[in-house]
Amino acid sequence: MSNGIEFRNITKRYGSDRNAPLAVKGISFEVPQGTLTTILGPSGCGKTTTLRMIAGLESPTSGQILMGGRDVTTLGPAERNVSMMFQSYALFPHMSVVENVAYGLRMSGQKKAEARARATEALKGVGLVGFDERLPSELSGGQQQRVALARALVLEPAVLLFDEPLSNLDARLRREMREEIRAIQQRLQLTVAYVTHDQSEALAVSDQIIVMDHGVIAQRGTPEELYSRPQSEFVAGFMGEAMVFPGQAQADGRVLLGPLAIVPRHAVPAGPVKVAVRPEAWQIGEAGGVPATLKKASYLGSFYEYGFDTPLGAVFVVSSDLARPLAPGAQTTLALGTHGVSVVPQAA
Ligand SMILES: Nc1ncnc2c1ncn2[C@@H]1O[C@H](COP(=O)(O)OP(=O)(O)OP(=O)(O)O)[C@@H](O)[C@H]1O
Ligand SMILES: [Mg+2]
Repeated sequence: MSNGIEFRNITKRYGSDRNAPLAVKGISFEVPQGTLTTILGPSGCGKTTTLRMIAGLESPTSGQILMGGRDVTTLGPAERNVSMMFQSYALFPHMSVVENVAYGLRMSGQKKAEARARATEALKGVGLVGFDERLPSELSGGQQQRVALARALVLEPAVLLFDEPLSNLDARLRREMREEIRAIQQRLQLTVAYVTHDQSEALAVSDQIIVMDHGVIAQRGTPEELYSRPQSEFVAGFMGEAMVFPGQAQADGRVLLGPLAIVPRHAVPAGPVKVAVRPEAWQIGEAGGVPATLKKASYLGSFYEYGFDTPLGAVFVVSSDLARPLAPGAQTTLALGTHGVSVVPQAA
């Protein structure tokens, strides 16, 4: 890797108690220059800690951090050309919206008029027009979040860090803003590390996804790799709300899942396996499926969520077949294709 961010065997323990648990337990990864990496994982797995170490706001307990090939492990935030948008996007309460966004530019020596003009432009970029003179307290949570986003983007730093930047936005704005972040990142060739616990957000914007679990990297790769070749039950479950069933891989390449036989897209050695099935992978009413009785149905606008009772246990299914809704009590069958099904070796 020529440039970008590199972590070499980083650990982090908070405080001075040597027996305190490690928040980050020896992780190594790269964020290649000009690409976007998301760090994905459940609450408390070490995402914010990792981001703060990239920013220089926390120092690692051991290991080495390189940026642009330079060892920055002991450098402070000001020496790293990094800008971070925090999970709690603290705006300066006594400054107007435009002053908040212009602040960083003013600090780096820009004239007031120019800094304000660029700030207004950045605010426009995040869809905030006509709010320049308001105070943060006069904005909604989502609007404040967009001010914070404009404040991070306006600096156009070499490395941009986002900690759950979209958590306060409604679904439609989330989608728009994540596309905006991705577009800006690609246009300016920014190196971005982006923390989220939302796997669909990660799949949508990333060049690389790093899945963390209890301070370690469970797996990293492209969205495609993580989605279609999860190496553990944890990753499979995390990447698509998949349900995991015990299965048996046969010598002939098939995998038996109770009465169902599937042919995995990637061959696995014979023996016990876990089969992760995404809720949209089930085919309702197909021949050769397992018998299923509908217990629960919820209509969610563009799809149905169904809960079935089957010989495999309770099965959660998402169906976009709106024309033929099922009612609780309905008897049908559930079959599997190859899409949305991944087979994970038992040992993982
Ligand atoms: N300042 C701190 N002092 C002591 N322990 C901390 C501190 N900050 C975080 N931790 C601990 O380190 C671990 C990782 O925390 P971190 O904030 O990195 O998690 P996270 O993945 O960002 O979680 P979330 O999704 O909830 O934001 C947690 O167990 C947390 O309690
Ligand atoms: Mg966090």
